Amino acid sequence: MAKLIIEGRTRIQGEISIGGAKNSILPILACTLLTNKTVRIKNCPKISDVNNMLNILKTLGGSYYFEGDSLYVDTAKAETYVMPPDLSRELRSSIFMLGSILARFGQACCVYPGGCEIGNRPIGLHLSGLKMLNVSVIEEEGSIICNGENMEGTAIHLDYPSVGATENLMMAASGAKGKTIITNAAREPEIEDLQAFMRKLGFNVTGAGTSTIEIDGKLDIEVPDVVEHKIISDRIVAGSMLCAAAICGGNLNVKSIEPLHISSTLSKLREAGCNLDIGKSNVHISATDRLKEIRMIETLPHPGFPTDMQALLFALCTVADGTSIIVENVFENRFKHAPEFTKMGAVITQRDRTAIIRGVKHLRGAHVTAQDLRGGAALVIAGLAAWGYTTVDNVEFIDRGYERIEDMLNSVGANITRIN
Ligand code: UD1
Repeated sequence: MAKLIIEGRTRIQGEISIGGAKNSILPILACTLLTNKTVRIKNCPKISDVNNMLNILKTLGGSYYFEGDSLYVDTAKAETYVMPPDLSRELRSSIFMLGSILARFGQACCVYPGGCEIGNRPIGLHLSGLKMLNVSVIEEEGSIICNGENMEGTAIHLDYPSVGATENLMMAASGAKGKTIITNAAREPEIEDLQAFMRKLGFNVTGAGTSTIEIDGKLDIEVPDVVEHKIISDRIVAGSMLCAAAICGGNLNVKSIEPLHISSTLSKLREAGCNLDIGKSNVHISATDRLKEIRMIETLPHPGFPTDMQALLFALCTVADGTSIIVENVFENRFKHAPEFTKMGAVITQRDRTAIIRGVKHLRGAHVTAQDLRGGAALVIAGLAAWGYTTVDNVEFIDRGYERIEDMLNSVGANITRIN
């Protein structure tokens, strides 16, 4: 496992551009199975989750290549509906393929998906939605075998606005006869991006970004031989870089972003005492030497505060002046970074889904371990503010969602070394 060694007390200063969103590209890659045309995806992040997804597509018979920051994907020759078990276990998002494989082949076979161990992450909503579309679902010995040859559009109400279930059902419904209406759908910006992509492929999908999404037959448009799509920028990476600047009294311009997508994060940074200058596609942050407490952060589905930003803000709270409270409502096991912060001198009381953090003046460098993707990035950011050197183990977790985080931060003043 690779590690990062972070010199503490450096200052983040300068300008950084944010690339494409992990949570957009992954369902869009699954969605490439819905067309025989070549797809050119611009602004593709080079992260390990993308590689894993591409490997799954390749096993199904698809092909791909990179040219600059564009990724070309061609699934015209995809011929199997059986997802490779080992690769699928690597990646939670492999479950998104169930919907697109069903729409393409009428059948699908996969194993229970993997991903970060941040909680139970069941897939009941995905499967019950598919059953409502008249898909027969058989679960046996860790495998899920689906027959969707007679898929029919219907009304699906999600008990919870699950991001993955919404995306999966949007794709499955594109292969069903008649109209599907999903209510209590997730409203994340990445779902709007998936809708935009599906519309370019000729599917009549409307309502993404609201809690009611309709999927209804084909649009009367001519689909070009090469379908181009630019992935929206990664709001969590953008928020992470703003937090990096915030924790060490930095001064940073974060470019190529959609500020509206990160408004809940910006409001917490403001509460912590950071000065923010918000432009059309950038946010300039300048932070004071000592952050203020953030009284309450409660994670919620979009447009609430994102669970993916929780660990990053947690890092800020460890050194803020005063006591902050964080409640994690989305995943039940997403405070795994707390004991690691404690090794750096943070003062944390945790009970179930609530963490009470009494900010200390300084963290100290320590040997810590990334337990999941965002928690790992939060440890790196904490290392920037700590006295001495911090070593973060298990960098592979961080590589799932950040394109060499050390290069990004080193380009604006950090001193981080990777050891493989
Ligand atoms: C997506 C994001 C992930 C983010 C999460 C919540 C991608 C690739 N990943 O994950 O970064 O942290 O949204 O914003 O987009 N649930 C069920 N049954 C289901 C499905 C989900 O109970 O069938 C529960 C989960 O256990 C969890 C909650 O719903 O408590 C949210 O999960 P969901 O929105 O599905 O997250 P993902 O799509 O896995």
